[in-house]
Amino acid sequence: MTNIVVVGSVNLDLSASVERLPLPGETVTGATMARFPGGKGANQALAARRLGANVILIAAVGQDAIAEEALAFLRDAGVDLSYCAVHPTLPTGVAMICVASSGENHIVVAPGANASLVPERLPPPAADALICQLEVPASTILAAAAHFHGLVCINLAPAREVDDELFAVADLLIVNQTESDWYGDRLDLGRGLVATTYGAAGARLTDHGRMVAETRAPVVEVVDTTGAGDAFTAALTVALVEGMPPQRALEFACAAGSIAATGRGAQPSMPDRVTLERFLTATAASFSRA
Ligand code: RIB
Repeated sequence: MTNIVVVGSVNLDLSASVERLPLPGETVTGATMARFPGGKGANQALAARRLGANVILIAAVGQDAIAEEALAFLRDAGVDLSYCAVHPTLPTGVAMICVASSGENHIVVAPGANASLVPERLPPPAADALICQLEVPASTILAAAAHFHGLVCINLAPAREVDDELFAVADLLIVNQTESDWYGDRLDLGRGLVATTYGAAGARLTDHGRMVAETRAPVVEVVDTTGAGDAFTAALTVALVEGMPPQRALEFACAAGSIAATGRGAQPSMPDRVTLERFLTATAASFSRA
């Protein structure tokens, strides 16, 4: 079985569904509210677990009721939470999310305890792959990657200022189109593999700048894209560690992201392995090189 360590964030998502996203300074009313477990680290840990991997999550939450709500899906799925620190004073991270009827979203994150995840919690246990994102301190990601011997995957989200060193420790960098534009040529500083997602238009995988796989995304009815990138990241990592060829791995990851966009909230819509395999079979014709 594939063993994965995720170093990353845990949030509670406060999600307002609204007809359209507000412009700066504008109030939009008529929304419906829901609370979902979230955070890129937690979402990716859950996605990898549902796809069949053994998963350890290294994270930090607050000593509050929100923490239990935020960790509930991970506990139910059997993600190992024994490396999750509980900070005595900082609150559990919270994300305020607006989701438009088109599925697009705006997210504001209050990191709380996520910012306290420090290198002292590391090195990570041995595993086939390490997955990190940028909602915890970059120094923590660097420390985790420095001691790790398997595949190091860094999802460079959300886009933010980071040292070149961070790119250099990654075997696999994952970005969406906005992040790709933000980082530009610095993506070439990685060890080779770069996956770029283009929403409904699909995804590309390059190795040292050479295209090794490209696919359209299957057509789905989009409800909420929150967590779709997290599903993609986890699925691509699982697929590559399992030894799937690049084209198949990219289709597997795109399918996971597409399914994740069909339901409200990040974690409730993360597909399990059986659902994903069936979806791939049913939509085989819609995958093709873009
Ligand atoms: O990638 C989606 C996640 O980003 C949400 O669950 C939210 O918590 C933010 O961290």
